[in-house]
Amino acid sequence: MPTTYQNFIGGKWVPAQSGETFENINPADTSEIVGIHPNSNRDDARAAIQAAQDAYPAWRALEAPKRGKILFKAAQILEARADEVARDLTREEGKTLPEAKGETLRAVELMEFFGGEARRLCGETFPSGQPDTFLYTLREPLGVVGLITPWNFPIAVPTWKLLPALISGNTVVLKPASLAPITSWHIVRVLEEAGLPPGVLNMVTGPGSAVGEEIATNPAIKAVSFTGSNSVGTRLYDTVTRRAAKCQCEMGGKNPFIVLNDADLDKAADLAIAGAMFSAGQKCTATSRVIAERPIVEALTERIVAKANALRVGNGLREGVQVCPVVDENQLKSILSYIEIGKAEGAKLLAGGRRLTGGGYDRGWYVAPTVFGDMKPSMRIAQEEIFGPVVGIIAVDSLSEALEIANDVAYGLSAGICTRDLRRTFEFVHGIQAGLVHVNAQTAGAEVQVPFGGYKSSSTGTREQGKVAVDFFTQIKTVYLHYDT
Ligand code: UN1
Repeated sequence: MPTTYQNFIGGKWVPAQSGETFENINPADTSEIVGIHPNSNRDDARAAIQAAQDAYPAWRALEAPKRGKILFKAAQILEARADEVARDLTREEGKTLPEAKGETLRAVELMEFFGGEARRLCGETFPSGQPDTFLYTLREPLGVVGLITPWNFPIAVPTWKLLPALISGNTVVLKPASLAPITSWHIVRVLEEAGLPPGVLNMVTGPGSAVGEEIATNPAIKAVSFTGSNSVGTRLYDTVTRRAAKCQCEMGGKNPFIVLNDADLDKAADLAIAGAMFSAGQKCTATSRVIAERPIVEALTERIVAKANALRVGNGLREGVQVCPVVDENQLKSILSYIEIGKAEGAKLLAGGRRLTGGGYDRGWYVAPTVFGDMKPSMRIAQEEIFGPVVGIIAVDSLSEALEIANDVAYGLSAGICTRDLRRTFEFVHGIQAGLVHVNAQTAGAEVQVPFGGYKSSSTGTREQGKVAVDFFTQIKTVYLHYDT
């Protein structure tokens, strides 16, 4: 029997007011219902917003270091529970158990980092041009904030939004992705056990068209932070900013990985495969274009194809599996349709290119790791985000051509290069239009203490993680204090 989960509103676990529910299905084995969740509507979202409003004055008044202390406690609880959380994450989202455990431990690090940042919510002092004047700034919270989070990083992304919001003194309504809500349930439980007061964090599961809409439009919500697709993000941004509330969106990527002539080709192929195929390519930071100099493109392609064919695809709970299923049938169909588009556009299919069937594969959403050669920069598969285990290889004559192609897309989230040439490394670092740059490392992956975010259509410009994450969740008050009383 699957567990039935509830919303968390004002410190109480409650079902949707309508009593409606939805099922959370295991993508590795669709005969397993992992959980049953409240299919909430706008009334439930309104109740959560009200609870967050009620809790705001006391939370805002609590000294920030005390708010931070709750996160340190939460970090310990989550670390002790990491195996259980990772297992649930794998069952509902699909990624492999080591990936799920790694992501859970990243959430622990986020708690430790932002627990400390609570002591560093600093303003600035300035020399005043007037006599006897103390001129300084304070950082103050916004009020109630809404978080709308994705299924592909169901513990890292909600925590990296939630924690800076909380230490800054805001109260929160969280709408987790309907494809992976149990992981958010774990986050809420951990924080509740760590002593977060009732109403400070509220969680409501349900469709974006109801819960998300209420968060976007309710005047009590002063800021919305979202990670997900560009189509949803840009619409949300319009809705939220039209009423002069703040909105932060982290969206898609079409991340290039450039390989230069001098690179160690085995290493380059390993990095390309890791970036493109792990988590079945379902990362906004995944590598989707390998751009290689012509003299090495053939040797590199051979290696990438061999490594793609050797990947073990399967249920993420099983040991040794490297590539997990994709999250649901819609995702599967969309990826397969991009593969057809790539073939029709004339890219050369060199590996994969199909749904995996037979045996256990028939019960889940498995796509064979797919490699296209001869990809042309103008092709749709070279321009649009596929969000699956698909990578295309483009040959170029120079680094400047590689940079031109790398930059000639709407996105600018992450980018990588493989070379030992320092001069060309810097040419890449300075010329690439991306918020995250990796030298001799794969395009995915992030450390908690540094900013995360993209250029161009990948992001609305603010940064998450690191110290700067509090910028979005605070407002600055400038104080002119004349003490010649
Ligand atoms: C990572 O590359 O490890 O939704 C993090 C995403 C990103 C997180 C990527 N916001 O894929």
